[in-house]
Amino acid sequence: AEEYLSINSLSEEQNGQKVLLRGRVHTVRGKGKSCFMVLRQERATVQVILFVDDKTVSKGMVKYATAIPRESIVDVSGEVHIPETPVAGCTCSKVELKVHSIRCVSRADNLPFELADAMRSEEDLQREDAQFATVTQDTRLENRWIDLRTPVNHAIFKIQSAVCQLFREALLAEGFQEIHTPKLIAGASEGGAAVFKVDYMGQPACLAQSPQFYKQMAVCSDFSRVFEIGPVFRAEKSFTHRHLCEFTGLDFEMAINQHYNEVLDVMDHLFVYMFNGLQKRCAGELATIAEQFPVEPLQYLPKTLRISFEEGIKMLQEAGFEPDPLGDLTTELERELGKLVKKKYHTDFYALYRYPLAVRPFYTMPDPEDPRYSNSFDVFIRGEEIISGAQRVHDPALLTERAKAHEIPLESIQSYINCFKYGAPPHGGLGVGMERVVMLFCGLDNIRKTSMFPRDPKRLTP
Ligand code: 4AD
Repeated sequence: AEEYLSINSLSEEQNGQKVLLRGRVHTVRGKGKSCFMVLRQERATVQVILFVDDKTVSKGMVKYATAIPRESIVDVSGEVHIPETPVAGCTCSKVELKVHSIRCVSRADNLPFELADAMRSEEDLQREDAQFATVTQDTRLENRWIDLRTPVNHAIFKIQSAVCQLFREALLAEGFQEIHTPKLIAGASEGGAAVFKVDYMGQPACLAQSPQFYKQMAVCSDFSRVFEIGPVFRAEKSFTHRHLCEFTGLDFEMAINQHYNEVLDVMDHLFVYMFNGLQKRCAGELATIAEQFPVEPLQYLPKTLRISFEEGIKMLQEAGFEPDPLGDLTTELERELGKLVKKKYHTDFYALYRYPLAVRPFYTMPDPEDPRYSNSFDVFIRGEEIISGAQRVHDPALLTERAKAHEIPLESIQSYINCFKYGAPPHGGLGVGMERVVMLFCGLDNIRKTSMFPRDPKRLTP
C-alpha cells in the first residue's frame, strides 16, 4: 500500500514524484476540462488539479471531482508539480499536485454556514455590511464540529493545551504533586445555590463545584504541595460572557510556614512562567488569533503587582466611584480598577489581596489583625477575575463557627471538618478558571470561544 503524505511535508524536491494525500476539500471549482481543488489538512492547504487527458483523467472524473461538496474528505494521488507562479492563498504554495485519481472517502452535506463566516467576531456581525452578515455565535456552537475546523479555533485550543502543560510543568518544578479528587461529592463546597444535584445510589449528592475540600484533605494527609487540573461544575444561571456551567479548574494547595504571601509567590512564578511560555511556544497561534481579534499583547511585570483591597477601594474613590469598602467589587468596578491599575502601574495582570471576610467562602482564614478582612486574594487579567485564593481555616472549631455563620448544614461537611481534628498544617491555595485565562490572555470577547463544547445555562449539546 502506498503511504499517505502530509501537505506540510510537500516540497519542490519532490517535483515529478507520485504522492498520495488525504484531506478535506477546502474549495473546488470546475473550469472547462479541468478542476481546481484546494485540499486542507488542519491549517495546511495545497492546490490539486485535474486536467482531462488521454491517459489517466477522463471527462467523467473531472465532473465527479467538481461535484464533490466542500469539506468532504478525499484521497488524491498524483504527481508533484512546480507551478509557474506560487499558488496564492495556499500554505503550501510552491508546489501543486497533478491528480491521476481521486476518491471521496466521506461526503459532506451542505454546510449550514461558510467556514470563513465561522471566523467572524461578534463585532463584525454587528456591522450592517452584507458580506459580514448571517452567522451568530449560537449557530456556530450549534455546529461546533464545523466551527472548530477554522485556523483561529485550532490556535485557541493549542493555547488551551499549552496553558495546562505550562501550569503542570511549573508546579512540578516547584515540588507539587498532581492529584485527582472526586467529582461526585456529598455537599456543596462553594455555596449551595449554584450546585448541580444528583442522585447517588439513592443518596443526595452533587457535582463538585471545586476540588476545594479534597485538595485541603490531601495537604492534611501530608501531601504538602498538590495541584489538580479537572472539571468544575457550577449551576449558575449567569448568562454572561465569562460564566460557564462546566469549566476546567486549575487548582493548587500547599502547606504554608508563615504567611499566605507564600501562596502568592508561587502564583507569581507560575503565571510569569506561563505567560512567557505562551509567547514563546505559541507565537504563531497568537498571531493567527490577533488577525481576527486584534488585541494589545498582555502587559505583565517580572514580579506581579500586589495591591491591597483597601488601596483598590481608595483608587476607585479617588476616580469618583463609590465602592462598598467592605463589600465585593462588581464586575464593572473590577474593570474600572483594572484600567486605573494599568494607567498607574503599566500592567494588565495584578493581585488584589486582603478582601473583606464577609464576601469570601466560609473556609477562608480571617485576618488575625482585623477580622473584618481575610487572608485572601483575587487575581485579574485585563480587569477580569481569573483566580481566587486564600489561606484556609485549619482549626476545626473556628471552621465550624464559620460554616454556621454561612448557614451551611454541618452534616453535609462533617467529614471535611473532621479532617482538621488530628493535626492540620496551616495551608492555602488557589483556583484558576482555565477558559478565562485563555479568553483574557488572547483578548477574546466570550468564554464560549475557549471551551471546546461549552456548557452554559441554555446549552447541553453538542
Ligand atoms: O472564585 P472561585 O469560585 O473559587 C473557588 O472555587 C475556590 N475553591 C478557589 C480557591 O482555591 N480558593 O473559582 C475560581 C476561579 C475564578 O477565579 C474564575 O476564574 C473561575 O474559577 N470561575 C469560572 N469560570 C467560568 N465559569 C464560571 N461559572 C466560573 N466560576 C468561577
